Amino acid sequence: MAEKTIAGLPGKGISLWLDTTVQTDFSPLDGDIRTEIAVLGGGIVGILTAHLLREAGRDVVIVEGRRIVSGVTGHTTAKITSLHGLIYHHLTKAFDPQKARIYAEANQSAIESYARMVREKGIDCDFRRLPAFTYAEEAKDLDAIRREVDAALSLGLAASFVQPTDLSFPVQGAVRVEDQALFHPRKFLLALAQEFDRAGGRIFEETRALEIRTGHPATVETDRGKIRADHVVLATHFPFFDPHFFFARMYPKRSYVLAVRIGGEVPQGMYYSTSQPFHSLRPHPLEGEDILLVGGENHKTGEGGSTAERYRKVEEFARKHFKVRSIEYRWSTHDPVTTDRVPFIGSPLFRNIHVAAGFGGWGMTHAMVAATLLRDKIAGVENPWSRLYDPARISFTGAGSFVKENLDAAVHLIKDHLLPPGHLDPGTLAPGQGRIATVGGRKRAISRDRQGVLHTLSPSCTHLGCIVSWNDAEESWDCPCHGSRFDSAGRVIHGPAVRDMSPKGGDK
Ligand code: FES
Repeated sequence: MAEKTIAGLPGKGISLWLDTTVQTDFSPLDGDIRTEIAVLGGGIVGILTAHLLREAGRDVVIVEGRRIVSGVTGHTTAKITSLHGLIYHHLTKAFDPQKARIYAEANQSAIESYARMVREKGIDCDFRRLPAFTYAEEAKDLDAIRREVDAALSLGLAASFVQPTDLSFPVQGAVRVEDQALFHPRKFLLALAQEFDRAGGRIFEETRALEIRTGHPATVETDRGKIRADHVVLATHFPFFDPHFFFARMYPKRSYVLAVRIGGEVPQGMYYSTSQPFHSLRPHPLEGEDILLVGGENHKTGEGGSTAERYRKVEEFARKHFKVRSIEYRWSTHDPVTTDRVPFIGSPLFRNIHVAAGFGGWGMTHAMVAATLLRDKIAGVENPWSRLYDPARISFTGAGSFVKENLDAAVHLIKDHLLPPGHLDPGTLAPGQGRIATVGGRKRAISRDRQGVLHTLSPSCTHLGCIVSWNDAEESWDCPCHGSRFDSAGRVIHGPAVRDMSPKGGDK
C-alpha cells in the first residue's frame, strides 16, 4: 500500500495494520458467473459474513473494488468492545428496555465470538482481553458517566464507576466494562480470508460492483462481468444500492489516529473520552514493546477545514498527556452514523438483498453482529436481535439530527454550486495540493498528484452531485453530503458513489 509523506505531519502516512501485513493479490472477476451468495465488499463485514456462510456450506463469492481489508477496516483502531462511548443511557431512553438489552447482548456476544474464533483457529493476531473505559476529564460530564454506569448495569454488562483510572493524567471518573478485547484486524481477517479461499470460497479483488438488478436470482453488474446470485450482501460500508434512502438517514464522520511510542507505562485498557472532539487510546504491541494508538478529532467528512490540522491536534493532545518518544504512524478513518445511533442490518425491501451499514465508529463488534444476523437471515432462521437493527425501522429518536443532516446536504448541494470559487493558475499547484477553482470560466476540481500530474475534474460528486472538497492530509476529494471519497485522479475510494469523477480537459 502506498504511504503518503506530507511535510510537517508526523509518522509514516499509512496505517500500522497495512504496513505490518502483506498485500493480497486475488485476481479480478473474469466474465460472468453464477453463485448462491455474492458478498459485495471485502472489509470486516464482508469477510466475516462470507466466512460464516461458507461454514454453513453455502457457495459464496466476495467482490472487492480495491484490495480486501484495505479500506475502512484497514484504518480502524480495532477496539472490540460493547462500550460505545455513552450509548446505554441513550438506548434506554430512545428504545424500549428490551431493545437496549439486545444491543448490549449482541455486542457482548460478538466479543466472545472473536475470542472463540481466535482460539479455535489458532489465529496469531495480537488478540487480548482488556477493560474498556469511557472517561470524563471535566466534572460537568460526571453525571453522564454515572447514568451510563447505571444503564449498562441494568442491561447486564459488567460495568462499574471508577475514579481514578490507570491513566497518567487526571480524570474525573469513568465507566469501566471488564473483559473487552482488541486485536490486529488485518492479521485476523487475512487468516480468515485464506481459510475461506482454501475452503472453495472465491474472492475477486479490483472488481467494482456498479449496479444491482433485483430478481431471483439478482444480478450484480460489475466492471468485470455479471454475477447472478440468489442472495446479495451489501457490505460496502455505505450501500450504493439504496431504495431505502440510507443516504438521508446516515451521515459520514472522519477521525484520526497516531501510533506513538511513549516514555513510562502504556495504559492497559481502551479509553474513550466524553469530550468533543473525543479522544481514544489503546495499546498495541510493536517490535517488542507496547505503543499507544491515540485517536480522535472527529468531524463530518468533507467539512471542518484542513485535515492536516486534525493530525496536528491529535499530536498536541498526545504530547500534552504523554511523554512522546516518537510518532510511528498516522492514518484516518471514516464511518457513517445513523441518526438514532443503531446500525442498519437486514433485508428491508427485497428479501434477497441484504445490507449492513452505519456502525458509527464501532465497527468491530457490529461487524460480527451483522455477519451473524445476515447468516441467520439467509438461512431463514429467526434471530431475536433482528428487530433492533431492522433498516426499515421508523425511529423518531434522532429526528433533529435527521433534519439537520439532510438540510446540511441540501445546503451543500445548492450553495456550493452557486458559490464562485477563486481563479487559479494551475502552475502554482504543488504536488499533493488540490483546490476547487475556476478554470476557463468553469468550476473545476484541480489537483496535482505526487508524480506531478495535474488532474482537472468536474467537481460534482458522482453520487448525487454535491461539490467535493480537498482533503489535504489524505490528498483526496471528499464529499460533504454522504461521504464519498475519490483519489486525486478522481477514482472512487469510498461510496456511495461507484463511478469515478469526470475528467475535464485531460491530465497534464
Ligand atoms: Fe452523496 Fe456525494 S456522497 S452527493
